[in-house]
Amino acid sequence: MMKDIEEVLVPREQISEMVKSLGKRISEDYAGEDLVLVGVLKGGFIFLADLMREITIPVDMDLIAVSSYGASTRSSGVVRIIKDIDLDIVGKHVLIVEDLVDTGLTLSHLKDLFNTRGPKSVKVCTAFDKPSRRKIEIEIEYNGIEVPDKFIVGYGLDYAGRYRNLPDVCTLKEEIYEKEL
Ligand code: IMP
Ligand code: MG
Repeated sequence: MMKDIEEVLVPREQISEMVKSLGKRISEDYAGEDLVLVGVLKGGFIFLADLMREITIPVDMDLIAVSSYGASTRSSGVVRIIKDIDLDIVGKHVLIVEDLVDTGLTLSHLKDLFNTRGPKSVKVCTAFDKPSRRKIEIEIEYNGIEVPDKFIVGYGLDYAGRYRNLPDVCTLKEEIYEKEL
């Protein structure tokens, strides 16, 4: 797996600092409130697990699964819910926890969906942000690290289902994308 890496773009230490600082802000901002963290599967699970442990106020959590890119590195623009959350979010603050915001289509769709269910608020927390690729304007209240317009893997992010377990965020060698996985 290591031989497939071209470059480490965001080292684990920097990711860890970002997670700590977001966890602190969230703990302060939602103190005394009913907060539900909703992790977006599959990519968001590592960030959610780390972020939760940096939050010092009581929180509930749930998971939602949306369609992925398949083996492609570009968004299809079609957002499909594969697994919905189980929790009732009426009167609760919802914080959507994403691995990366690219076009913004996934988050915009999820925000609209949750807003139809009577929550007190719906906000967004992302580990990584590719603002150059945005197709739809979306407010990100908790934004981790800005990344360039390159396809990245690691820390939950995959290429064709692989490399999610890399602790650093990396780019892959060109030949990996050309190869059938
Ligand atoms: P979008 O904002 O709707 O375009 O999609 C964002 C989702 O696409 C992210 O949550 C990732 O799962 C996936 N994605 C976008 N860019 C990358 C990338 O560079 N590597 C891996 N997954 C990506
Ligand atoms: Mg995702």
